[in-house]
Amino acid sequence: MIAAPVNMKVEHFDGDVLGIGTATPRLSWEYTQSLPDDAKAEVRVVRRKPRHGGCEERDVVPAADNILLPWRFKPLDSRELVEASVRVIAAEGVGEWSEPVRFDVGLLQPHQRVADFIGPSWPEFQTDHRHQPIIRTEFDLPRKPVLARLYLTALGLVEAELNGGKVGDDVLNPGWTSYDNRVECWTYDVLDQLQVGRNALGLWLADGWYRGRVGFDGGEANVWGDRIGAFAQLEVTYDDGTRQSWYSNSSDERWKIILGPIIRSNMYEGEYHDARLEHPGWSLPGFDDSDWSSVSEIPLDEHRIEFPVMEAIRPDGANSPDSIERIGSLDDGRGVWMVDMGQNCSQRLNIHFRGLEPGQSVTIEHAEVLDKNGDLVQRILHRGIQRDRYTSNGNDEWWEPKFVMHGFRYAKITGLPELAAEDLRCTVYHTAMERTGWFESSNAMVNKLHENTMWAMKSNFMSIPTDCPQRDERVGWTADIAVFAPTALYLYDVTGFLRNWMRDVAFEQKKTGTVPFYVPYVPMGIWSDPAAIALWGDAAVLVPWAAYMSSGDVQVLEESYDCASAWVNEVTGYLSSDGVWDRRPDYAIGQLGDWLDPQAPPEEPDLAMTAKELVATAFYVHSCDLMVRIAEVLGRKDDAIRFAGLAAHAREGFQERFIIDGEPDAAARMTSDTQCAYALAIMFDLGRDGRQTNDFGERLAELVRLADGRIGTGFAGTPFVLPALTRTGHLDEAYSLFLSTKCPSWMYQITMGATTTWERWDSMLPNGEVNPGGMTSFNHYALGSVNDWVHATVGGIAPLEPAWKRILVAPRPGGNIAHSSASHLTPYGRVAIDWSLDENDNDALLIHLTVPYGTTAVLDMPGVEDTEYSGGEYDITVPWIN
Ligand code: BGC
Repeated sequence: MIAAPVNMKVEHFDGDVLGIGTATPRLSWEYTQSLPDDAKAEVRVVRRKPRHGGCEERDVVPAADNILLPWRFKPLDSRELVEASVRVIAAEGVGEWSEPVRFDVGLLQPHQRVADFIGPSWPEFQTDHRHQPIIRTEFDLPRKPVLARLYLTALGLVEAELNGGKVGDDVLNPGWTSYDNRVECWTYDVLDQLQVGRNALGLWLADGWYRGRVGFDGGEANVWGDRIGAFAQLEVTYDDGTRQSWYSNSSDERWKIILGPIIRSNMYEGEYHDARLEHPGWSLPGFDDSDWSSVSEIPLDEHRIEFPVMEAIRPDGANSPDSIERIGSLDDGRGVWMVDMGQNCSQRLNIHFRGLEPGQSVTIEHAEVLDKNGDLVQRILHRGIQRDRYTSNGNDEWWEPKFVMHGFRYAKITGLPELAAEDLRCTVYHTAMERTGWFESSNAMVNKLHENTMWAMKSNFMSIPTDCPQRDERVGWTADIAVFAPTALYLYDVTGFLRNWMRDVAFEQKKTGTVPFYVPYVPMGIWSDPAAIALWGDAAVLVPWAAYMSSGDVQVLEESYDCASAWVNEVTGYLSSDGVWDRRPDYAIGQLGDWLDPQAPPEEPDLAMTAKELVATAFYVHSCDLMVRIAEVLGRKDDAIRFAGLAAHAREGFQERFIIDGEPDAAARMTSDTQCAYALAIMFDLGRDGRQTNDFGERLAELVRLADGRIGTGFAGTPFVLPALTRTGHLDEAYSLFLSTKCPSWMYQITMGATTTWERWDSMLPNGEVNPGGMTSFNHYALGSVNDWVHATVGGIAPLEPAWKRILVAPRPGGNIAHSSASHLTPYGRVAIDWSLDENDNDALLIHLTVPYGTTAVLDMPGVEDTEYSGGEYDITVPWIN
């Protein structure tokens, strides 16, 4: 009997989904057994248009086409509902149908987006501290519909309530995009919230990223516009196929607006809520809105509305306080409390406000760390002060801010008479994404580093990949994700998320002429003049490549190809005649080099030890090499040849300029005698020959020994230093560097009690003080990029081919690690490895290996011939001598 395939998926969504943005979605599924050679897959889609009947279509495809199978049927229409399933057909019989994946299609045609953006019809403050409005309407349902969808988006942020209840559990809808490019529209099934007769729809509206202050150095307000508006399109279908719709608009006088209880709301600075200004029952039918105003229309070209390729921001569990301490009292006796949530991350407190008089306010301030006196460290937040305020109406109420996010572990709550653990709920939020990667070992510190990396990732995958979630910055810095993408893609399926962001990278590149420092791009201070910077701009190549290797999604490469090749072409124009990317004097900023290496002075993170020209040229060569592979995947042979030529020229320039060949009596050295320089030269294959690479490995190992296990790399070198030591046979040094607890090192952070990965190696100094540098965050993921090595080398699994079709199994035990298990949900299914050193015979490694069906795992161990394993479970013993 052939088993039913499992995990049917549409595009990169995790299970069933509403409102996808394509008429020709791709389907994927997994097998749970190896299939007969003649096996085929029969795909069945049952499709239904709300106003018409359904139909079924089927097609038979090779069984091996189970990853992102292109749509084989008539393109879908907007609103069409689909149930897709698959079964295996072979000579020996026909298998069971898989569980279906269910999805429907968004409003693909601009003319179907009939609603208007509606917002305040009164003059507002020019920039900050704007009082936020609420909007309402009522409508009648003659009978119970069979289908109901609310299409919702905003210029700003929106949250909907239907008949008194919140619609969906998304927050910060519609998320952050380059709004001059596109704004995402999310689809909700609201059937169960509707009732026959009168209904009411309420919309909370706020500034959000669109009009609120974003970015650093005080940030910028009104970046994309100075008027906010909500777009709501409610459509119901009755059992006879008739449809009825309600559209937000300013003309039918049925949509009313008034100032709500949120008296100010700013992503970074916090939200102020005055409960005295609440309008009880405002989103229930029958509410008297006679004193509410008419709404104004905020014009927006409906072509700019887009249906998503990723998920929204949603809650993901909760943290409960480690401690709650009363640290002081106000004059009137109300308390000042310090709450330790135990975990630094992006989260929001929902607080029970009790015992307050009308008009009494409670202030909630959030920070990542405490100073020696036990007070919040707010200096490093700059203007992003993360301060919420709740003003009571005298009632016993729970309240959580709606339109902000806070990166914190500690909260100081001033003005609550009483506070107990039961008065707090703390919800964790990030863009919803499927967890796909796990790692554990016998070393508790390594496990903690891994866990911290995951928290840093969750905290910063907030609609876009941000650098940090707390200070007045939180922007989509390109280098941070360029180095972290491989780790991210192991931990979670973020292909859709990165694809979404890359769309804006491409847009901003067209607009600014280069890959700007961060995306969405907002001109700010010295960053107001976008200019090409190595590693940051190389994100245009590195991110899609990482996503492709993880998912096998060629569309990601196609969509980003123009952007990636334009980037390489642009930089080509800056190279000196010998192929080296010298620093251009007309740059405002020049290069950022091996940003934040531990030698760089706190206030000058770019003054790292490795020459910037070296770092820049190395990444240029690396990008050209990847472009050769990308062009080959896309069948662009001429481009591949051209990129290969560019790589060869720059490689030669690199060698001439940055390698000192000591032949015949001395070893080759780099002009920058640093961990970063050797790591890049080894990993990007920049040496002239194997001998030089070998010399680089020797010197790198020596530098690590001389540094007594202290790390010497910044953003550019960090992901590559351990792989470079491993590749050149210096596993002992790799482990000594990895497991070192000296400052600076990865484990140093763990000894200092970190619960996330830090921006600086020493964001907290050994004396317990916060690094004096103005730019100091405790929640950056870039240095967590080491986990790509952890998964591949400690754990022992890595993709050899896109989508993990071929898997490299090459654990290299070291340090004091005696056991490890790593697993990843590849597009084909779960790959897992569990190894331990044989307790009786330390020269043997016992491996339990799970290989997904449809893939081949290649076991690569020193001293043993490579062995291939197809789908299945294996117990393997190999000799291991270290
Ligand atoms: C950010 C970084 C970013 C860098 C570049 C910082 O302020 O937090 O992560 O890549 O600036 O200058």
